[in-house]
Amino acid sequence: MSQRTLVLVKPDGVQRGLTGQILARIEAKGYTLSQLKLVNASREVLEQHYAEHQGKPFFEPLVQFMLSGPVVAAVVEGDRVIEGFRILAGATEPTTAAPGTIRGDLGRDWGEKVQKNLVHGSDSPESAEREIGIWFG
Ligand code: CMP
Repeated sequence: MSQRTLVLVKPDGVQRGLTGQILARIEAKGYTLSQLKLVNASREVLEQHYAEHQGKPFFEPLVQFMLSGPVVAAVVEGDRVIEGFRILAGATEPTTAAPGTIRGDLGRDWGEKVQKNLVHGSDSPESAEREIGIWFG
């Protein structure tokens, strides 16, 4: 059941020079990069991307963080890639994310800095198609 998902390397990952390591982990697991770009996201794109979080207390800090530097956006393909990438990424909070995951191995932020969790991955096939449309048109 080949799927595709939208992966973002967030500004903390790009700024720390972890893009290569993160993409290498995705490829090493057996997934394929089918589209890839470095982009300075606009507020409009981010408000669409995070539409489900509008009104939450962390929404504006999250958008500000995502505007703070370039992001790497990728379309990643593979068998059950949506679920598989989210497991590879690890839990939302890097401090407590399991070792062996991207967030658990490479991050340590928590609390109000939890938006610095290195990566985003779509959470369902519907989200993936919606998010790929937002980032890649
Ligand atoms: P993600 O699950 O990819 O998409 C929503 C993001 O919001 C999440 O990653 C975190 O980066 C961020 N986030 C979620 N919960 C909080 C929170 N309580 N405070 C700040 N940021 C959050």
